[in-house]
Amino acid sequence: MVTELRVPGDKSISHRALLLAALAGGESRIRGILTGEDPQATASILRELGVRVPPLAADGELRVTGVGVRGMRTPRRTLDCANSGTTARLMLGVLAGQKLEATLTGDDSLRRRPMRRVTDPLSRMGARFDPVAAPGRLPLRVTGGPLRALDYRLPVASAQLKSALLLAGVTGGVPVRLVEPGFSRDHTERMLAAAGCALTSSPEGRGNRVRLTASPSALDPVDVVVPGDFSSAAFPLALALLGGAGEGIVLRGVGLNPTRTGLLPVLERMNARIEVDMRSAPERGEPAGDLIIHPSDLTGTEVRPGEIPGLIDEVPVLAVLAARARGTTRITGAEELRVKESDRLGALAANLSPLGVEVEELPDGLVIEGTDRPLSGPVEAYGDHRIAMAFGVLGALPGNDITVDAPAAVDVSYPGFWGMLERVSTPAARPSARGAGPEVGAHARPVRGRGPVIVIDGPAGSGKSTTAREVARRLDFRHLDSGALYRALTYALLESGRPPDSWPALTESDLNAHPVRMTAAGSAFRIMLGARTLTTELRSPEVDAHVSAVARLPAVRGWLLDRQRQAGREGSLVGDGRDLGTVVFPEADVKIFLVAGVEERARRRLLQTGRAPDSESDVTAEAARLRTRDRIDATRAIAPLKKAADALELDGTHLSFEEQVDAILGEVRAHVGGRDSEVPNSGP
Ligand code: S3P
Repeated sequence: MVTELRVPGDKSISHRALLLAALAGGESRIRGILTGEDPQATASILRELGVRVPPLAADGELRVTGVGVRGMRTPRRTLDCANSGTTARLMLGVLAGQKLEATLTGDDSLRRRPMRRVTDPLSRMGARFDPVAAPGRLPLRVTGGPLRALDYRLPVASAQLKSALLLAGVTGGVPVRLVEPGFSRDHTERMLAAAGCALTSSPEGRGNRVRLTASPSALDPVDVVVPGDFSSAAFPLALALLGGAGEGIVLRGVGLNPTRTGLLPVLERMNARIEVDMRSAPERGEPAGDLIIHPSDLTGTEVRPGEIPGLIDEVPVLAVLAARARGTTRITGAEELRVKESDRLGALAANLSPLGVEVEELPDGLVIEGTDRPLSGPVEAYGDHRIAMAFGVLGALPGNDITVDAPAAVDVSYPGFWGMLERVSTPAARPSARGAGPEVGAHARPVRGRGPVIVIDGPAGSGKSTTAREVARRLDFRHLDSGALYRALTYALLESGRPPDSWPALTESDLNAHPVRMTAAGSAFRIMLGARTLTTELRSPEVDAHVSAVARLPAVRGWLLDRQRQAGREGSLVGDGRDLGTVVFPEADVKIFLVAGVEERARRRLLQTGRAPDSESDVTAEAARLRTRDRIDATRAIAPLKKAADALELDGTHLSFEEQVDAILGEVRAHVGGRDSEVPNSGP
């Protein structure tokens, strides 16, 4: 079977569409924007600078009213670029020509990346940059103002640098003439031309000469249809080439700008069978089309320095392809990879070698010897989305078993990546597929945790959540409280101002626009919304009132599935919640289905909610409510209450809380105790 797939919107184009819309003199329209964390960073900085940017949504249309080229206001807060180098560098250019002061910062990875390549030429134009900590690194205090023209030869072929300088030319209203030593991506040039700037570009030697001769005092609004990101498409493409996606994959609507598709000729040399079905290129804007990928027997190749700018972001996935190709692949001239979201050459070598792949790390590249041996073991993402995804693909191939330490890194550019991998990877790679739910179909692939996974389900009032918390505490595992995730999403939806009656129409990508995350923090999971930790907010009456409607939405189940499985990849856990044992973790080590007589459950529930039962009639009334609830839960279409076939049913009617917990601990010891020293033999 051939699977059809669309990948999220192009990250580079999404940033630029937001920036140009902000600088325009009217209302711009953006369709198909990437809702990942990187464009979210650009959007929130623009909001801080006075631009009204609605919540990012991949479906539908985003309308942004620009403030003009020099209309930004002094921000009240430090501008946080998070993990996004493109945000930081392009924003430095935008701010250079604004009459304001602002401080830009980023996460640990971004604060290590070089900024001098941008600030040096921008300083020549007349802007000022004062480092807050280390020279040439973020945080930087920017003082923008009147600028001078620039005539400059770039030391590296870098689209981020080129774009920063062109954007400074626009906000400063001055000409900019650049020569770059290679052909980096040209999205900025295309979009500036569409917005009314006079711009030319022509080959010069081995590189590229770009001139911005004039820009209007207000850019024309843009109308951008963001194509799928070729750099994201490269991951399912690699999976399909390596035979990990059945008979192949058709990737629809992928951006095919020639400055981005340098991977294709390299793959052709490697014997890859890929058909490119290019739509007639639009007059302005970006070319796009479909890629049809067939499983192929790959051979090694030599990737030369001149090819690097056209596949700059594809080296991690290329390394994984090389690890499975026949013969040697040699990549050189890629020293720029050392200053990406991680030192990608170092990260690739450090991960491939212990998996059993022969690899030599060069100062500017890698030499990789392909192997068809099964590859297994843990790998480190180094907080880098593309390292995480490259090894995600390698791990999804039949016979391999690889655990990525920080799977959430993918949210930067490919929200939903792990769900996609589950859906499209070959059934042969999913031996224990069981209890399929609507989101995963028969595609549940075993989620390899870094330790045992214990799941507890049961009808309302069975005490599953307090029991799970205590079992987790006694085992020193993390407690995965799925209910808290629903609540966090409900909170984020309420905060976004979207009216609740529009929530049923939300898609999974809309939900991904809300940066709700769960991060492992010691013995618990912390629920975060962006940089904020959510605690008491989750129990507000407003959240209470809306959470069950949210939990019923099919898109929400898909959204939740990804996050719960990520939690499973981060270490040992005890989880409680509906469909954990059937859909989320069908291969959990221990599954408990907790039941109790309805009157006992009624009593517990009354006690739990602080309503001590005054009389048997209170209990009878609560029991009647529970019976109705049981019937609804068991028969509803979305995630019905259902005991997993291989779950142990534990009747707690006549057990005390302690006895119930002990019974589960006994079960855990019986199943995983023998092979995991993490499981203690006695209670605290
Ligand atoms: C980008 C340019 C590239 C690329 C990055 C996005 C852009 O960086 O690696 O992921 O959107 O301009 P450089 O061109 O600076 O190498």
